[in-house]
Amino acid sequence: MRLKKWLRPALRVRTSQQQQKDRRVILLTVLLAGTLMVAIALFAFTSGNAGHELATLATADVASEGEEANTTARADEQGAAANIQIADQQALKRYSLFYFYEDARSTRYLDYQAAHPELSAEQVVIRVNVDLDTVDYEVVSPASDVSVINTLVSKHYSLPYDYEPADLAYYGELLIKSEAIGPLDQLIADASADGVPLSPTSGYRSAATQETLYNGYVASFGYEAAEVQSAHPGFSEHQTGWAIDFSPTNYLFYDTPQAYWLAENAYKYGFIVRYTEENTDMTLYIHEPWHIRYVGSQVSNYMHDNNIASFEEYWVKYVQHTPPPLG
Ligand code: DAL
Ligand code: ZN
Repeated sequence: MRLKKWLRPALRVRTSQQQQKDRRVILLTVLLAGTLMVAIALFAFTSGNAGHELATLATADVASEGEEANTTARADEQGAAANIQIADQQALKRYSLFYFYEDARSTRYLDYQAAHPELSAEQVVIRVNVDLDTVDYEVVSPASDVSVINTLVSKHYSLPYDYEPADLAYYGELLIKSEAIGPLDQLIADASADGVPLSPTSGYRSAATQETLYNGYVASFGYEAAEVQSAHPGFSEHQTGWAIDFSPTNYLFYDTPQAYWLAENAYKYGFIVRYTEENTDMTLYIHEPWHIRYVGSQVSNYMHDNNIASFEEYWVKYVQHTPPPLG
């Protein structure tokens, strides 16, 4: 198209203006693109940094959580230890309410209770007081004044091997403490009158006789069975002269009229059935319904009336310790 002459200069001007505008647009676009790229790069960099920072923070958090957990665990441990100490102190407080509590045995009471959580505080104190927390025949004390009627002889309280009671007397062919002869005779006479004949078969036994007997048990029944049926020499009540066995001295005596009669009546004559079903964990022997022990009628009646199930318990409460006066 041919332009009119007068139009050409105007068009030239317009064209150059257009070119300048285009250049500006291009420049602007380039600038914008550059800025955008820089912005993107910056964003990428900073967000990378932020990520890194976040990661660092997260790591720090985990670390501090770990530290917190450690601190909590330490605090828990200390708390538990403190609680145990408090629990121990409370337990000891409970034990010390019994007049037969012995301070020197305090840690033993706690250990025994821990091993026997089913036992009451009183049961724990009594058992530790007769050394049931120690190995049989290893921790041994001499039986308290063996000549007196209420001496305790057990797997932890022994008699000198050559101990022989001073005042033994014959009852038939048996030797027993003379003081027990009258009551034994009466007991046997009354049982017989009730239609329950009793034959005494063993009374005083020397340590040497006991040794033969114990070895016989081991030979016949093995060590474990012997341990719960026969005392080691020096550890048998028979050596005191206060104990009597009725025949037969074995399982055949269980559930017999003789066993029931003795369980029901022996205390009336000053005797106790020494090894019962209820007290095997205290005496450490099986139930021996045929074995009675003279303790005198005051003690036997007291034990009967107060449901004291073992001589060990009586001994702790009234021989090892003396109850405080009432009132
Ligand atoms: N049978 C009892 C425990 C004794 O040997 O003395
Ligand atoms: Zn016996």
